[in-house]
Amino acid sequence: MKKVAIKINGRSHQFIIEKDLVLIDLLRKDLHLTGTKQSCDRKGQCGACTVIVNGKAVRSCLTKATELDGSEVITIEGLGTPENPHLIQEAFVLSGAIQCGFCTPGMIMAAKALLDKNRDPSVDDIKKALRRNLCRCTGYKKIIEAVQLAARFLRGELTPDQVRPDPKQGLIGVSHPRPSAMIKACGVAEFAADIQVAGAGELAAVHSPHAHALIKSIDVSAAEKMPGVIGIMTAKDIKGTNRLKYMVPDRPVLCDVKVRFIGDPVAAVLAETREQAVAAGRAVKVEYDLLPVMMTPEEALALGALQIDPDRPNLCFSQPQIRGDAEVALAKSASVVETDFSTQTNHQAPLEPEACVAYLEDENGDLPTLVVIGRSINIHYHMGMLQDAIGYENMRYQEAYSGGQFGIKIDVTSEGLAAAAALHFKRPVRYVPGLMESMWLTSKRHAFSMKVRLGADAQGKLTAYCIDFTVNNGAYSSNGTVIISRALLMLSGSYYIPAIRAMSRLVYTNTIWGAAARGAGPPQVNYALESAVDMLAEKMGIDPLEFRLMNILKPGQLKSTGRAAEQWPLPELMEAIRPHYNRARNDASEFNRKGGTVKRGVGLGTGSFGIGGPGDTATVAVELDPDGGLTVLGAAADPGEGNDSMLTQIAAHLMNLPMDKIRLATRTTDRTTAAGPAAGSRITYMLGGALVDAIHKLKSAMAEVNAATVEQLQTSGKPTRYLGTKKNEDAGPLDPQTGQGPSFESQVHAVQLAEVEVNTATGEVRVVKMTTAVDAGRVINPKNLEGQLEGGMDMGVGFALREIYIDGQTKDWVSFQFPTIGHSFEMETVIRETPRTKGPLGATGVGEMTMVPTAPAMMNAIANACGARVRHLPATPDKVLAALSEAKG
Ligand code: FES
Ligand code: FES
Repeated sequence: MKKVAIKINGRSHQFIIEKDLVLIDLLRKDLHLTGTKQSCDRKGQCGACTVIVNGKAVRSCLTKATELDGSEVITIEGLGTPENPHLIQEAFVLSGAIQCGFCTPGMIMAAKALLDKNRDPSVDDIKKALRRNLCRCTGYKKIIEAVQLAARFLRGELTPDQVRPDPKQGLIGVSHPRPSAMIKACGVAEFAADIQVAGAGELAAVHSPHAHALIKSIDVSAAEKMPGVIGIMTAKDIKGTNRLKYMVPDRPVLCDVKVRFIGDPVAAVLAETREQAVAAGRAVKVEYDLLPVMMTPEEALALGALQIDPDRPNLCFSQPQIRGDAEVALAKSASVVETDFSTQTNHQAPLEPEACVAYLEDENGDLPTLVVIGRSINIHYHMGMLQDAIGYENMRYQEAYSGGQFGIKIDVTSEGLAAAAALHFKRPVRYVPGLMESMWLTSKRHAFSMKVRLGADAQGKLTAYCIDFTVNNGAYSSNGTVIISRALLMLSGSYYIPAIRAMSRLVYTNTIWGAAARGAGPPQVNYALESAVDMLAEKMGIDPLEFRLMNILKPGQLKSTGRAAEQWPLPELMEAIRPHYNRARNDASEFNRKGGTVKRGVGLGTGSFGIGGPGDTATVAVELDPDGGLTVLGAAADPGEGNDSMLTQIAAHLMNLPMDKIRLATRTTDRTTAAGPAAGSRITYMLGGALVDAIHKLKSAMAEVNAATVEQLQTSGKPTRYLGTKKNEDAGPLDPQTGQGPSFESQVHAVQLAEVEVNTATGEVRVVKMTTAVDAGRVINPKNLEGQLEGGMDMGVGFALREIYIDGQTKDWVSFQFPTIGHSFEMETVIRETPRTKGPLGATGVGEMTMVPTAPAMMNAIANACGARVRHLPATPDKVLAALSEAKG
């Protein structure tokens, strides 16, 4: 123990502390300064824990508190408050640099350390100062802009009021700051790990080191005696089905009979501290009988392969899609390309760990309520899954502020363990797993293997497309069948292809389970289609832009499902990208004329992404408040996309109210009705649509009785609350034989232009610039829209070039290859606004769009640069070099 004196945020403190205590624990645990975040396993990889010590930005997880005697520490809470923010906090809010906000406090502290010394930093200075700070949401562009804006504020050239949008400019199409941006900038927004509950124990799970094994025995006797242990829970302690059923009941809360992937949870320890729980977890002895391991669909489909799931074969789903006679059309085609592609298993990589809190409310009452606070994007559905799995009905789910999700929260993760433990031990439970444990607890992007043939006639018109794709489902099914359906629903991408023949297969293996990941299916199949389009254009000697333009689907023509398109404003986007394309081609020719081993190339990709799937339905209620404001009640999660902004701006606009008179009640099951997941880019289109409907009903009722207030409505016998709905009437599954059937109600379209440099000696690829032309209908908040596009491009490039999840090997942000600010690149967005006829105020969704065409645009650019056609993602240097030598023959 050591006595130290530290000034923290201007206040002097005396501490007697243990020699190994790190600053992050002193701040978060002892002082409850929870604005300082933790994403990585204290390895110095994330920067979320950045604070300032004696004027320098430091990572508090690496800083021993005992070495700080006489030091001055500033945390995010020491900068400003929502009522009186620091200029840097203002700049981050006004620049749209805050999405989920989990990285924000660390970013702001790193920026402050820079700006305290340098009031006029260059972009390189900013990148250097923020090089240790990760962000998954923004693509770093708006963060760099925020630091530049902060510098201007600090130099006295501008004031926040000069930048802040004036509500008189209007509420739609204006970048008003997000409702939660300032509390995130000031570090006072509560994420799940920040929530303290009196008397809570800390949970840690015991995970399988084996990919496939029977559980012979679990011996907890030694672990139970470890210091601080409250108890140890195994499958026999779970009273419900012990199965978290998204679509089929195959995933246990805790494994009972067997484990099916490296990381499957087999026991959970509750202790007074997380460290004690982890230590006791290591003392739990599990005896396994090892089974054959099948890591690939080929192994799982081999003759005699052991069935992984007791109730379903390894080939657990297949669905064809057939329109016309593709074989005959290909045989008659003037030109055909035939090749294969594959994509990797990938982690969605939200910065925040899978934290969750659970406790019994009114514990001594007749029927205590089990409260679960977590990161769900579908609180009602997930609560139902939990109720069945742990056998307890009286439950409430609350969504905390969430540090990104990108599809990972389509399914229940840590909540199953925390809820079961709270019930079993009758103690409040905090489950704050580290990064590696969070990776084990969560789904991944499915790996696809695809064989394709694409043909065109002599004029370059597409004739037929055949694709045979196999999806590695991993150990549990989650929404795997939905991924297949989505891939088929958007199979023909942006094009009219008269004949289609597709076969899809979903296969259980012993890898980690797959589920939703930004785009969920279309990014994988669109990579194959858009690569094949470029290969065919090249084979036919047609410019890739012209080839695409002549094959773009026209309204009235059929998509792959056989449904006719209504609006398809893609030719206009193609023309919008043309000047950028011509400029980029000229730049590349100029660059390559110099010679040398580095070659520059230009590639295109398009994407047409469906919004509002077959039968999709959402409901939102509005209630007129006594002070004339409006409460919006609907389970619309906002893990960072800007859904809170969208609901607030639409409601304020339609009700002619200031934004601060709009109250959102969206985060708890007891005040909302189910509205479906914040997934599939559906919230603006579906919940925005339901909100417009609800407000229309309220305003009609008010007009009918000439009421302007709650009292007048009530006196006239009218309710003050109205329920709005939005539904895609085109409902039902695809035909099981033909894959023909209902489709999305709306589409968002994009054309993406990638400019890259390829080092032909090392295989390294540098992104020079990405430009995206997008039509997402009427824009509600331009900065939020740009933020989604920029973040999607950054994630798409990560997927294309480097990110991968390998079972048993990917353990942290370095082994995952998380994109840093050093990898960031120039981005430009070109926006067109074709009002969608059925969208709220003409809007549609956009969250996943730029993820879809980015990888093929990148691979097409690499091929354009040096002839290397990379067919298996990610395009790591070794694969680029292999493709280059293949191209040279
Ligand atoms: S928690 Fe400190 S760098 Fe990640
Ligand atoms: S805003 Fe940076 S991680 Fe979400």
